[in-house]
Amino acid sequence: MAVTVAVAKEKSEGEKRVALVPEVVSRLTKSGVRVLVESGAGEEAYYTDGAYSSAGAEIMHDRKSILSQADVLLVLQPPAPAEIALLREKAIIIGFMSASKNVESIRKMKERKLTAFALELVPRITRAQSMDALSSQATIGGYKAALVAADYSPKLLPMLTTAAGTIRPAKVLILGAGVAGLMAIATARRLGAMVEAYDVRRAAGEQVRSLGARFLELQIDAEAAGGYARELTPEEKQKEQAMVNEAVSQADAVITTANIPGRKAPRLISKEMVSGMKPGSVIVDLAAETGGNCELTKAGGVVVENDVTIVGPLNLPGQIPFHASQMYSKNLQSFLGLVIDREGKLAVNFDDEILKGSLMVHDGEIRHAQTKELVEGRQ
Ligand SMILES: NC(=O)c1ccc[n+]([C@@H]2O[C@H](COP(=O)([O-])OP(=O)(O)OC[C@H]3O[C@@H](n4cnc5c(N)ncnc54)[C@H](O)[C@@H]3O)[C@@H](O)[C@H]2O)c1
Repeated sequence: MAVTVAVAKEKSEGEKRVALVPEVVSRLTKSGVRVLVESGAGEEAYYTDGAYSSAGAEIMHDRKSILSQADVLLVLQPPAPAEIALLREKAIIIGFMSASKNVESIRKMKERKLTAFALELVPRITRAQSMDALSSQATIGGYKAALVAADYSPKLLPMLTTAAGTIRPAKVLILGAGVAGLMAIATARRLGAMVEAYDVRRAAGEQVRSLGARFLELQIDAEAAGGYARELTPEEKQKEQAMVNEAVSQADAVITTANIPGRKAPRLISKEMVSGMKPGSVIVDLAAETGGNCELTKAGGVVVENDVTIVGPLNLPGQIPFHASQMYSKNLQSFLGLVIDREGKLAVNFDDEILKGSLMVHDGEIRHAQTKELVEGRQ
């Protein structure tokens, strides 16, 4: 029987993205998949019910009935436990699971014997690149972070030579040159700023330089397995601190994106460092959600201290909902290729490396060790 894929309107606060866009719906329906879309699911990202319906989706007004008919529910964030209770036993949920924020929902998925695939756990192997939603959304977050920095800055970013005098280019410092950091560098460069960047992974230096920015070198290499950062030793931390300190004090804007997967974000900018910054300078802390790279960051808020504005945005990709949804939806389309066969039928190969890596809940068990501890340790 053809599989029923469902998309309900996202309920988490400020979430404007939608898991599927009409273009991807059309590909699914052409391959025989039945697609249900809750009325208004895409409206905040500017995808209309009409566009979904032209793509072959059934638009439904009754959220409960969408949830109860879904074989596969596609989400940005898991629904609340009461809604998970409406899903069929053995239904599949695919999306970001953000387990630490959704402990009760994950517990409910386990109780209901659902299968949940967490996109943030998709292994970063070549075959999975088109499914890498962490990267697609970080790309958008990095772009928006540079715009936010420019917006809060009292200065122009580009160098200007005008009849009213010459303006020096602003100095933008990017801490953490992963996917988001590199996009922030590229965007700040396009806005005409002088850009410097720092990352504990020396390999990032080449990418930073190729974008026309200066890489702050420290004589250590903290790249661990899988291309992620390891934690630094106390001596390394001290050296790093001195170098970053100096660069921060010179910057007009600092964009921080440093993360260590599964842990609290590393603290890179202390209160004292903020007090050494130039008046009018700006910090945009992309790690606000995981504890912040700056000591003064308020998650979801803006703090002004010592004439320095510290912005701690949550869900920046959600502020560019049209393209964030489009990219996320393409990631899901690729992922669904591992779950649904060419005839539009459910065909999940649990031995596939990508599915194995991203499987969070299955058959009444939490399969991801860290999440299991988080959920079952709190009962
Ligand atoms: N499919 C793939 O092969 C694939 C896809 C995406 C990313 N990657 C690679 O994975 C790596 C991580 O990417 P990400 O953007 O998801 O990373 P992330 O969001 O986990 O972290 C962001 C950056 O912060 C850096 N960081 C951590 N601690 C720091 C500190 N104390 N000071 C300064 N910087 C610090 C990390 O090195 C990383 O570059 C990168 O090498 C990236 O190129 C590979």
